[in-house]
Formats: sequence, C-alpha cells, structure tokens
Amino acid sequence: MNDLSALDSLPDDFLWGAATAAYQIEGAADADGRAPSIWDTFSHTPGKVAGGDTGDTACDHYRRWPEDIAVMQQLGLGAYRFSLAWPRIVPHADGLVNPAGLDFYDRLVDALLAAGITPFPTLYHWDLPQAQQDRGGWPVRETAERFAEYTAVVAARLGDRVTHWATLNEPLCSAWIGHLDGAMAPGLTDLTAAVRASYHLHLAHGLAVRVLRETVPGARIGIVNNLSPITPASDSEADRAAAVRADGHINRWWLDPVLGRGYPKDMLEVYGVDLPVRDGDLDLIGAPLDWLGLNYYFRQIVTADPAGPAPHFRQVPGPNPEHTAMPWEVHAPGLEELLLRLTREYGVERIYVTENGAAYQDTVAPDGTVHDPERTAYLDRHLAACARAVAQGAPLAGYFAWSLLDNFEWAYGYDKRFGLVHVDYATQRRTVKSSGRRYAELIAAHRAR
Ligand code: FCB
Repeated sequence: MNDLSALDSLPDDFLWGAATAAYQIEGAADADGRAPSIWDTFSHTPGKVAGGDTGDTACDHYRRWPEDIAVMQQLGLGAYRFSLAWPRIVPHADGLVNPAGLDFYDRLVDALLAAGITPFPTLYHWDLPQAQQDRGGWPVRETAERFAEYTAVVAARLGDRVTHWATLNEPLCSAWIGHLDGAMAPGLTDLTAAVRASYHLHLAHGLAVRVLRETVPGARIGIVNNLSPITPASDSEADRAAAVRADGHINRWWLDPVLGRGYPKDMLEVYGVDLPVRDGDLDLIGAPLDWLGLNYYFRQIVTADPAGPAPHFRQVPGPNPEHTAMPWEVHAPGLEELLLRLTREYGVERIYVTENGAAYQDTVAPDGTVHDPERTAYLDRHLAACARAVAQGAPLAGYFAWSLLDNFEWAYGYDKRFGLVHVDYATQRRTVKSSGRRYAELIAAHRAR
C-alpha cells in the first residue's frame, strides 16, 4: 500500500486506537494494595511461562503512564483500549474496595481525556483475583456475581467520564485455553470445568451489561471476541464435520449467546456438559449490545482428530509460508471475511477491530532506531482488508492495533514483541518503531483528507 487510497472507504469518524492489557504492561504487582491474580500465580509456577518471565515489572506502566500517554499523542491515537485490573480494585474475597487501585484508573482516564484520547476500558482481561479462584473461579456462579459487584464499583467511579466499555476480553481464552488446554491461567485441562467457565463468563458479561446500563447513562457497551475463519484441511466428510465443530468451538459458542441466539445445539451435544442455566440467565447474556469487538490474528485450517479431546479437531499449518514469530500464519483476507460474516450472518450494527497485530524479532539498530518492515506490511494489509470490508457494507467504526507497547505476552513471556513501540526492559526506554511511525502517518493522512 504505497498510497492511502486503499483506505478511502473508512468513515470520516473512524477511530484509530491501540490496545494493551493490565497484567501485560502495568507491573507494580504488589503496589498500593493490589493482590495476586491467577496470572501472578501461573507465571510464578515454574515451567508455565517461557523463560520464567512474570508480569511483576512488565513495562512499569503503573508508574510510567504519563510518558505512555505522551507516546499515544505522538502517534495521534484517537482512542486507547486498556484493561482495568480487578485485583487492584477489589483485591480480596471480602469484596472491600481498594481506593488506591481505583485512583490509578481515575488518573489515567482524566489524563487520556485531557490528551484528547477516548478511553476504551475492558473490565476483564484474564487477571482474575486469586482469591476468587480459590473460591472456585469461573467454573462457579459466584465469580460472575462478584464480577458484577466489581463492575458496579468501577462504573460508579468512572462512569461520569467513560462512555465506551468492553466487558470481557476473549472469553474463549479464559475458558478454553485456561481450563481445557491448560496453557494459560489457571492451567486446568477439564472439559466440564471449561464449559462451566464459559457459561459463567457469559453470565458475568450479562450481569455487567445490566449494571452498566443502570449506572452509566449513554454507555456504549460491547464484548471482545477473538474469532478465526475456519477451513477444512480436505474435502473429506470427516474434515468438513471437524470444520463445523471447530467453527462452533471457536466462533459460534462465543457469538450466538451474546447476540441473543442461545448456545449452539450441536456444540452442546459435542461437549455433553449440562449448562447451569437459571431462569432469566439467557436473556441477560443475550441483552442488546452497542458494538462487538473483533480480535483477529489468524485463520484455522482444521482436520478431524477422533483420538484427541472433545471437540475432536486439530489445526494444521496453512499453505502460506508467511508467518509471524508466534508463529501465526499471516492471512489478511481472514479479517475481511470475519467482518463480513458478522455483518451479514449476525447482523451486527457496529464493530471495532479491538486487536490485530503481529510479533516479530525486532532489533534495535546501533543508531537506536527499530526498523520493522514486516509489521508495517502486516498493518497495511490488515487495514486494507478492513477498508475492503467497509466498502462491502461492514459497519466498522474503528481499529485498535495490538499493541501500543511490547509487553508480557502471557505464556510466551517477553520474547514475543507485538508493540508499535519498542520497550527496552532493562531501562524501560520506549522507542517508536517504524511501524508506529507508519501508523501515525496513516492516522494523520486519514484525518487530513
Ligand atoms: C490476544 C490477547 C492479547 C495479546 C494478543 C497477542 O489473544 O487478547 O492480550 O496477548 O493476543
């Protein structure tokens, strides 16, 4: 994309943002009354995170946030998606509010607004207070109820200034990766626990939507899901059936209930786990939303795996030789496909790409610059995919690059760098990469047109 005409279809008021998450950037793990989350426990368990890395210090954003807002201004961001750390705000099982934790986000929101940047907080990006985990975690209903209480606390404090709210980030990862694959906190491999966790995550979302509607007049509320287009690895009946199950497991299970369609019946059969539904739950879970967040990283090509755990499919490598450092296949048309599916099949009326980005092995040149042409090309191609979807009718209202900063990439630790801005973890020095400069250029050109 050498000129900007590929982005012509993006609306004038398109929101240009970048995203982060609390545990990945804040550090200050025991500052001002914060208690451990399941990610503190997980990262401090030997063997769980590459290199034994933890979020103890991360990008030290808890102390360096004024500098980080200055970087956002330098990039010309119109919005910033971040997450609120439940373990800072209601750290313990006693439900008492920690005022210092809340103060941090209060200051952050004020400073963002003063900088002309719209705050886009997410209430939950995987950092469940360990105290809640000890009482059963997401597999039990109480966790959803405690989440609603925490939401009420936050809404009462920030609701006079924050309009856009996301309830959950990628509940798929919390439920499936955290409770079924075991590669993320809390690290379980138990289908029943995973399905129950998914249900209570949805319930938590529904309860939070109700709280926000009641306490924040004019709130614009959404949920953030990571989705993948699914293709069968072959034309065999077994692979085609596997693709339907994979689509159910990865996409429909996460879209249908929150869009008022209930749980996919085929998947209820595949899992064979009863959902602990109580009267009224499904209406709460499916209550109308103002927008849907789409996180896009890769498509999935799948084959049947009858011997593997339910839902009996596995991903096979894509044919495209281009991969990021994760290593995830680079496939920008998948983003266009998902945006059109949300528009046409689900009738979603407002979508934000709440995350999209790539990890590469960045190096700092002797002159101190970070040149990342692959990430720049990735950004250009995915934004062009967004523009193509808009030209075909997708109601896409904004794009948040993942991520503002290099950060703690969960089980991969600090080895995988996703930032538009490089972080030297020894000095905490921030350096805008060439992809960040490219993003700033695109934003400025779109504004000026
Ligand atoms: C998403 C997460 C985000 C980040 C990116 C790379 O699944 O929401 O925190 O780790 O992947």
